[in-house]
Amino acid sequence: MQSVIQPQKTALITGAASGVGYAIAKLCRSKGMHLLLLDIDHENLAKTKAALAELNSSLITEAFVLDVADAALWKETTRQIADIVQDIDLVVLNAGKGYKPQGTDTGRLKPWLDGNYWEKTFNTNVRGPLNGLEALLPVLTASKNKAPKSIVITGSKQGITNPPGAGNPAYNASKAAIKNLTEHLAFDLRSDPATENISAHLLIPGWTWTGLMGNVGPTDEAEVKKPSGAWYPSQVAEELAKGLETGAFYIVCPDGETDPALDQARMKWGSEDVVEGRPALSRWEKNWKNRAEEAIQADARTRRA
Ligand SMILES: NC(=O)c1ccc[n+]([C@@H]2O[C@H](COP(=O)([O-])OP(=O)(O)OC[C@H]3O[C@@H](n4cnc5c(N)ncnc54)[C@H](O)[C@@H]3O)[C@@H](O)[C@H]2O)c1
Repeated sequence: MQSVIQPQKTALITGAASGVGYAIAKLCRSKGMHLLLLDIDHENLAKTKAALAELNSSLITEAFVLDVADAALWKETTRQIADIVQDIDLVVLNAGKGYKPQGTDTGRLKPWLDGNYWEKTFNTNVRGPLNGLEALLPVLTASKNKAPKSIVITGSKQGITNPPGAGNPAYNASKAAIKNLTEHLAFDLRSDPATENISAHLLIPGWTWTGLMGNVGPTDEAEVKKPSGAWYPSQVAEELAKGLETGAFYIVCPDGETDPALDQARMKWGSEDVVEGRPALSRWEKNWKNRAEEAIQADARTRRA
């Protein structure tokens, strides 16, 4: 499998002005790629464009302020992009956000009583990538150049294991939807000879020190202090590059606290809740959590051996 991360190819990245998106843009630039950078944050986007253009001024570096939830603006932006580049080789639909529920309820019901919180989360995290696909798939499929192209959508482990402790059910559900729709997209693309040159991939970062944690904007990792358990965004970008190289669909990133064996054991336990008829989210349920922890740790040890 030939990766699309190559000199003179073009990458379009949403959420490019911070964190994982910025790190992917920087990696693509270091490999000699043209960049189309999209983000809602115009100040950080301007800084991002300047920083990446400085790394190689002979390559295209264009920035577009865009709320990914705005389908009409996606189409207008796509028209502007068509005047700048002929082809887009790598699309990274990465912009995402965890909104906080509002309201006076102080308990676990708070998120369930705030429809606006659900709407904002789904508009950004689910409609955002869907709007991107609606605007960009026609461009990718109309291209006469049938060289490989890749679409990466950023999910989350929270969309697979659904941890209740984080108190953000809308975020978890939005990322579960992303897993589901990206799987289906990959199948549809590879099942039609007209689109089999376009692959889809699910990027699943672990705990990454980004804007979601307070490290906002196109920061210099050499100057960023992070907890030892978290990964730098550049490590996620490297993992994505490796995944594209091997043609992986699920690009699951470990972090300083969670190795691949532990991730696998946790995901297996979660999916077995259905098969075994356990209570939902048994890993966190008081009558199950000790059993769950023992079984997960034992499974992880076996996988490491
Ligand atoms: N940081 C983590 O630990 C982690 C873990 C799993 C998944 N993720 C996912 O990684 C992706 C990137 O997030 P990050 O951690 O780099 O955070 P970040 O805040 O550093 O970057 C997100 C970027 O998306 C932009 N953005 C937010 N809403 C937008 C909108 N409506 N339209 C356009 N741009 C918008 C922000 O301005 C920001 O520049 C997200 O999808 C997030 O859910 C992050």
